[in-house]
Amino acid sequence: MRSIDVCLSPELISLYDIKGRIIVVIDILRATSCMTTAFAHGVKSILPVASLEECRKLKNEGFTCAAERDGKKEDGFDLGNSPFSYMEENLKDQNIAMTTTNGTLAITLSKDAKQVIVGSFLNLSALVDYLSGQNDNIILLCSGWKGKVNLEDSIFAGAVIEALLGKFAMECDAPLLAMHLYKAAKYDMADFLKDSSHVKRLRKLNIQEDIVFCLTKDKYDVIPVLQGKVLVKMEIQDVVA
Ligand code: MLT
Repeated sequence: MRSIDVCLSPELISLYDIKGRIIVVIDILRATSCMTTAFAHGVKSILPVASLEECRKLKNEGFTCAAERDGKKEDGFDLGNSPFSYMEENLKDQNIAMTTTNGTLAITLSKDAKQVIVGSFLNLSALVDYLSGQNDNIILLCSGWKGKVNLEDSIFAGAVIEALLGKFAMECDAPLLAMHLYKAAKYDMADFLKDSSHVKRLRKLNIQEDIVFCLTKDKYDVIPVLQGKVLVKMEIQDVVA
């Protein structure tokens, strides 16, 4: 039977054999929510990079550059990490270089997997439908916060596990833990998350709308997928044989 596992923090990824697997990278607040929104609004590609310097240099190569650290947009960059800024008409068909505190790092750590895709509540059903049809084992990788486990990514992993119940064998307790967390949170996720560290951090920055938006289910049916070093919108026939 195909198996599914949850890696609750990028710091733990070395404990997982990622070769030959599909990795779903999760950063609900807000990197993977932004990426999903960007492709739903016609962005051409996103190049995830780990450092600010690397991202800044790409401006000279014609990229639109996005950078966020500790929830804040970095000075001198075109975009930060609010999903609303990825809805702009002028971003259509643009190539974006993006660096964030956690999400882009998790993607770069996943590059040796068979396939790397991006998950968020915004594309939950599209993601679950796609995964249901795959023969490979799956790892749901939570981006967390600077190596530590966070609540929102763990809850999302639980939502995927619950939706795929019976179709994949669970490899260890992390999927079970995530699923029970989701069961406890699913009737009012905003309330369940109100005391979580990143929600408090974003609120301190007067960022409220993004939180509500990033917890919205099935707003889009796009799935960002890594092709080489860049994320593009998956054309469903991009299924791995
Ligand atoms: C991240 O990568 O850590 C997050 O997306 C941070 C944020 O957007 O607030």
